[in-house]
Amino acid sequence: MKKVLKWAGVVLGSLLGLILLAAAGLYAKASMEMNKTYDVQAQSIPIPTDAESLERGKYLADVLCAECHDYDMGGKPGWMNIPGIAVISAPNLTSGSGSVVADFSDEDWVRALRHGVKTDGKSVFVMPSSDFYYMSDGDLGSLLAYLKSSPPVNRGEGEEILQFTLLGQAAYGAGAFGNLLEASKVDHSSRPASFPEPGVTAGYGEYLVNIHSCQICHGVDLAGADPPDPESTLAPNLTPGGDLADWTDADFIQTLRTGIVPEGRRLVPQFMPWDYKGRMTDDELKAIFMYLQSLPALETSTAPVK
Ligand code: HEC
Ligand code: HEC
Repeated sequence: MKKVLKWAGVVLGSLLGLILLAAAGLYAKASMEMNKTYDVQAQSIPIPTDAESLERGKYLADVLCAECHDYDMGGKPGWMNIPGIAVISAPNLTSGSGSVVADFSDEDWVRALRHGVKTDGKSVFVMPSSDFYYMSDGDLGSLLAYLKSSPPVNRGEGEEILQFTLLGQAAYGAGAFGNLLEASKVDHSSRPASFPEPGVTAGYGEYLVNIHSCQICHGVDLAGADPPDPESTLAPNLTPGGDLADWTDADFIQTLRTGIVPEGRRLVPQFMPWDYKGRMTDDELKAIFMYLQSLPALETSTAPVK
């Protein structure tokens, strides 16, 4: 009997050792990916100063950045809090105390937004720079003009932006949340060949879908997916293979403005950010709908987003 117990102990001990070893390996893998540095030369772009561009910049900040950095751009401490896994803050983008951009040059802004590379050379985590990559010089210039002139907000001083638990980091190493290191997804050596003129066209709709990150949750081909947020519900198929096949553009606008789909279901704003996306103009939403309707009718996918 004693012998059996001893052997059971040895087996259990070895199993535990193996599990710890595997976790340590995954932790180290995540560390290596998170600490990888990128040597990227950011382009300089013209930054306008006229009132119309500043207004456009404020609008872009509201629809693209406020969801995480708040409407005053002062950041949201503890913006993403997954108990036992990670606490991630969206930092302060104003010149107030707690700012992460106080010493930024124009190139630093472009490097962070278009390439997902921070001033220390590491990749940004979670912020969708691989989608902001698609922003035209005109839009990015207006956005930066506004951000650089937005009133100082004091928030987040001394806060650590990225905090992972040991388990959280090992789980990231195991690929549980997909790839959230944006710099690794960007083609740093080229730019999109051209940008469509703003208008109610499928081409401009595609531009908006790109910069608004619809694909990070609805999947690369927009046929639906399981979003990276482990708590999120599935993101539906937006091609004519899903419910949108029977919608009008008025239905689509109504859905993004109210969060209620024509079939009567309420969209959870925590998972589908309609309260931000619905701030787009009617023409922009029509362009997006036109683009979505122009896609092939794909079968609905529930696979995790790549
Ligand atoms: C989905 C949430 C999210 C959205 C949307 C978002 N950000 Fe961020 N942003 C973050 C997080 C999280 C960080 C911290 C990332 C890190 O330190 O790795 C960050 C960091 C930054 C930084 C600092 C980079 C550095 O070098 O430390 C800048 C600048 C920035 N964001 C600008 C913007 C602008 C401008 C927009 C809108 C066009 C935007 N962000 C939209 C979440 C977001
Ligand atoms: C952060 C993840 C996320 C992003 C980004 C996102 N969505 Fe969603 N979306 C979802 C989820 C999850 C649902 C389902 C929510 C629910 O049922 O409560 C959804 C639902 C929808 C629906 C309802 C579809 C139906 O068949 O009921 C539409 C339309 C939609 N999203 C359009 C968009 C568009 C357009 C964009 C880009 C401008 C976008 N979404 C960006 C996660 C996202």
